[in-house]
Amino acid sequence: MERPIGVIDSGIGGLTVLRQIVEDLPNEEYIYIADSKNAPYGPKSKEEIKHLVFRLADYLLQHNVKMIVVACNTATAGAIYDLRKKYSIPIVGLEPAIKPAALNTKTKNIGVLATEGTFRGNHFINTSNKYKDYVKIHMQVAKGLVELAEAGIFDGKQVDDLIEKYVKPLVELNIDYLVLGCTHYPLFYDSIKKFTGDNIKIIDSAKPVAIRVKDLLMTNHILSPEIFKTKIQFISTKEVDNLMLSVKKIFNIEQISCVVEKVEI
Ligand code: DGL
Repeated sequence: MERPIGVIDSGIGGLTVLRQIVEDLPNEEYIYIADSKNAPYGPKSKEEIKHLVFRLADYLLQHNVKMIVVACNTATAGAIYDLRKKYSIPIVGLEPAIKPAALNTKTKNIGVLATEGTFRGNHFINTSNKYKDYVKIHMQVAKGLVELAEAGIFDGKQVDDLIEKYVKPLVELNIDYLVLGCTHYPLFYDSIKKFTGDNIKIIDSAKPVAIRVKDLLMTNHILSPEIFKTKIQFISTKEVDNLMLSVKKIFNIEQISCVVEKVEI
């Protein structure tokens, strides 16, 4: 039997990363865990986040995963260093895509939407320090968006009002790149686009992470052989209604073989 790849997030946001990974690696089996019972992670302390992420990783290891993708910027910022110290399998993390934005901006202003936990993390601080002499990096905590996504609300007035509050001031600062530094935010792409218009590029980290996953599978010689249908087990620590809704929104479920279930972790 092939060993699956484990993917974790504080909730449904990591599905936006899994979508890209599955597109690039359709022959793999996946276990996706949404820790929706404990979302949002953003305002939590580093210690709390570490504790929550370790129990997800332990669960995945018990299910014999060959790799873990931490499809959450906040969980990566809080726990990846310690995860890599504890486990010997490859662990892929996520950080806001500052580098492509900083290298390509013409206005020398980029906007970043993320959580407090991500902005506090060493990855964000170190990467933004590298470019700070050349590019202004405007940070904005987008409080409340993760909660809306977790409640299954992706559009409408409530969403537009919050997006307007966070995105409009960045647009006024003459940004030409908006970095979505939280994996839940691409779920609000349509609303974000309404406020950025066509001249601002909206980018996230899904593609570079999928490339990194493929690279690590190949160089560790653990790429799976061809299968008939991608297998994905979607797990939530909360009732699965919203996870189910999001899975249907993001994946073509005719093309994958999947189960969606709640587990106690
Ligand atoms: N998807 C998580 C991230 O990328 C959401 C954070 C949260 O739960 O607050 O940061």
